[in-house]
Amino acid sequence: MMKNILVTGGAGFIGSHVVRLLVNKYSNYNIINLDNLTYAGNLENLNDIENKPNYSFVKADICDYDKICAVFSEYNIDSVIHLAAESHVDRSIKDPFSFAKTNIMGTLSLLEAAKNIWNNDFDNKLFYHISTDEVYGSLGDEGYFTEKTAYDPHSPYSASKASSDHFVRSFSDTYGLPIVVSNCSNNYGSFQFPEKLIPLFINNICKSKPLPVYGKGENIRDWLFVNDHARAIDLIFHNGSKGDTYNIGGFNEWKNIDLIKVLIKTVDKFLGRKEGESEKLITFVTDRAGHDYRYAIDSTKLKNELGWEPSLQFEEGIEHTVKWYLENQDWINNVTSGEYQKYYKEMYK
Ligand code: NAD
Ligand code: DAU
Repeated sequence: MMKNILVTGGAGFIGSHVVRLLVNKYSNYNIINLDNLTYAGNLENLNDIENKPNYSFVKADICDYDKICAVFSEYNIDSVIHLAAESHVDRSIKDPFSFAKTNIMGTLSLLEAAKNIWNNDFDNKLFYHISTDEVYGSLGDEGYFTEKTAYDPHSPYSASKASSDHFVRSFSDTYGLPIVVSNCSNNYGSFQFPEKLIPLFINNICKSKPLPVYGKGENIRDWLFVNDHARAIDLIFHNGSKGDTYNIGGFNEWKNIDLIKVLIKTVDKFLGRKEGESEKLITFVTDRAGHDYRYAIDSTKLKNELGWEPSLQFEEGIEHTVKWYLENQDWINNVTSGEYQKYYKEMYK
């Protein structure tokens, strides 16, 4: 069946992997990537597929309701996979307004456009909203987030994502808009902007720069290879139950400091340095405000209902990821020039 899928945020980290997967796998789908190319959006992430006949790019802001309606009409959009967002917790602490604007108002503008342009004819339509495990708050040493865990966001980022999730579900309950939501744990892999822990630290280890570990490095995150997230999105898009929520995660928890030591070991090995040589770069710095202690996703529902499981072991995924950043120094240099230097100085002064 032919589909015209609007993917928002397709020039970002996860979005570019989703766009690549869909464009390559479904030649009968038109994939329309809508992104306004913020500091985190980069069309270089999609060089390999930009000339494919089933791919189009539109530069637009999701908050621009009129423009979104025009795109729905021009491309005859029947499905949305919504990833566009401000996504970095540290930036949300410095500038919560931009998070409320993009993540809440931008999502609302997409929902309104879908409802109004589809005009209550919701046959074969879908609005798929990509969310995060951070909406569930923070865990102690035990337990997991399930789809039934009550929302308890702590950062302006997670509060804005939680709000957008509520709006999406409200459009299903109030107007009958066909929706599905997934909440995923921390992703890692190629094309991630080096403000997030893994690419930032790989880059700093390579350049022998300090590694700013927040607090004592004891916070725990549950890491998933980005291609496995993209595979889950493909599956949920096609087979998820309308109105439902799916948690996505790899049962792969790491204390930050232990993960950082794995990164050091892997980068040092690739660069021919003495094992553990770069551990001297570890620098404990002031903790992130409101820093959630532990995230851990229970993705049993996704496994039982749709048969999804992560395809990669963590060690393999990290090797692959470190190698990618080492072999793509031009990409790193391009994204860390200009504005990034200013951000880095202000953030880590
Ligand atoms: P990212 O910051 O790498 O990319 C975000 C993309 O959205 C960029 O291309 C940016 O240009 C675009 N964008 C931002 N504001 C926009 C606007 N107003 N209009 C149009 N485009 C805009 O983010 P990511 O890490 O790829 O995350 C993608 C989605 O997945 C987000 O919704 C995020 O909340 C969610 N998520 C991320 C993770 C993770 O570990 N990175 C985990 C779970 C969920
Ligand atoms: O859990 C899903 C979320 O994961 C996504 O929704 C977010 O978009 C994504 O950014 C990510 O949020 P985190 O805050 O968990 O990721 P980040 O890479 O910023 O940080 C991971 C951990 O590392 C966290 O405990 C904070 C710590 N950290 C991070 C940075 C950037 C440091 O110790 N030092 C750093 O410099």
